[in-house]
Amino acid sequence: MLKTLKHPDRDQTCRRRLVTSKNFSSRSMRGFQGLLIAAVLITAIDPSCAQTLSSASAAGATSRSDDENDLTPEQLLGKRLFEDTNLSEPRGQACSSCHDPRHAFQGNNGSPIPAVALGSHEGLLGSRKTPTLMYKAYSPSFGFYMDEDDGKPKLEAKGGQFWDGRAATLPEQASGPLLNPLEMNNPSIDAVVSKVKAGPYADLVTTIYGEGIFADPKIAMAKLSQALAFYQSSSRFTPFSSRFDDYLRGTATLSAEEMAGYKLFMNKKKGNCVACHDGKPESKDPTDWLFTDFTYDALGVPRNPAIPANKDPHSFDLGLCAQPGLEAKLPKTIKLRELCGAFKVPTLRNVAVTGPYFHNGVFASLRDAVAFYATRDTDPGHWYPRGANGKVDKINDLPTQYRKNINVEEVPYDRHPGQKPRLNDREIDELVAFLKTLTDKGMN
Ligand code: HEC
Ligand code: HEC
Repeated sequence: MLKTLKHPDRDQTCRRRLVTSKNFSSRSMRGFQGLLIAAVLITAIDPSCAQTLSSASAAGATSRSDDENDLTPEQLLGKRLFEDTNLSEPRGQACSSCHDPRHAFQGNNGSPIPAVALGSHEGLLGSRKTPTLMYKAYSPSFGFYMDEDDGKPKLEAKGGQFWDGRAATLPEQASGPLLNPLEMNNPSIDAVVSKVKAGPYADLVTTIYGEGIFADPKIAMAKLSQALAFYQSSSRFTPFSSRFDDYLRGTATLSAEEMAGYKLFMNKKKGNCVACHDGKPESKDPTDWLFTDFTYDALGVPRNPAIPANKDPHSFDLGLCAQPGLEAKLPKTIKLRELCGAFKVPTLRNVAVTGPYFHNGVFASLRDAVAFYATRDTDPGHWYPRGANGKVDKINDLPTQYRKNINVEEVPYDRHPGQKPRLNDREIDELVAFLKTLTDKGMN
């Protein structure tokens, strides 16, 4: 508590500055581009306060372990929240149970079905693959943006959090899992805030936001969500420490196979992966290589029969078009039905350690995920089951009326049965070798 701090006057000043400062310090912004982060970060941290608060560690709850010294006070609070297993109902599950720091902040909480995570209620499973949280702070907030890449300017959906972008920003996202019955299952915002108030780091909360913070649970929840976003914006989530980053910096080399994969990734007539998994060819700055352009696309990945919700043959995950309230936000040029089957382009950073793959986790192996691009249209029988009529049921995870939304124009999936795939077996191996260079240090 504040009263136990050694230098109360200084700390009062610090606290006031914490709440009112409008300027981002270089410390809290380390590794970030202001433009992108503006959508995520609302309050700023004064670096001298990080010092003050860490010297306040004698107070107990604000104490930090040695490996937490890089965190600002709000990031530290975000970490406490992220790892707090009391914040689920029943207790026992934290954000980190599904977003495991050792596995690039994704995972399934020990689920019997690898594709979908186990919720805090025994036996309740989600219906989508847990995404990595790394580099998510770079996502613009959800909206329709003008795409100026290919000649004709056109509006397209971009940004946001979740596979369908239904949370516009990271702070907005945080209440999702806390209140989702399939995840942490808290009954209300009040319930979450009461737990924090009664918990071991309540004084960290009041030190940062003031004694009165718990008076209005909605305001308290907004601050806690923001703290979670601050933590997810810290350098732990954005280390840029992969071998590919070192290659960009000129401090590492790629093997011949990895280099061949890199070239295929960039080649518009071969992999063309960079068309969606964005990187700036002329740039050596790792932050220009996020391996996503944050847009949405319909790939038509096969249905995953292991997902419990899929036992019902009429149940489909429609992705973007099912985002609540989207119809009211649509520009005139876009029809809601055209967005069915589209999911957010994920970053490929750390992809080698974040399987199973795609929104429904249908492929266990990275090689299959890449090979699917090459032969979805030339050899559909390899990927999709046969229907009752004996024919291959292509794009079987979407109702028939939406199957025309699937992208069949862009390389590499612009082929027809009988045509040569854009990538042969060796080239698929080379692409996989390249993707393996995107793993950050310490991730497995
Ligand atoms: C039971 C497992 C589980 C728990 C617990 C959980 N998540 Fe998630 N998280 C998921 C899944 C599954 C998704 C994808 C859901 C979707 O897209 O509909 C997800 C998506 C996200 C995303 C969006 C990432 C992206 O790529 O768009 C963020 C951010 C996130 N979670 C943060 C958190 C935070 C913060 C907490 C704790 C307050 C948390 N999660 C708790 C499973 C979990
Ligand atoms: C037209 C856009 C587009 C192109 C081109 C593209 N991708 Fe993707 N990629 C996506 C989308 C969208 C998803 C998510 C789809 C889903 O889950 O339904 C995805 C998902 C993936 C995944 C799964 C990642 C995960 O975390 O689950 C891998 C691996 C991948 N792409 C690799 C590649 C490679 C390699 C290439 C080039 C051969 C490529 N992509 C080309 C849009 C694209």
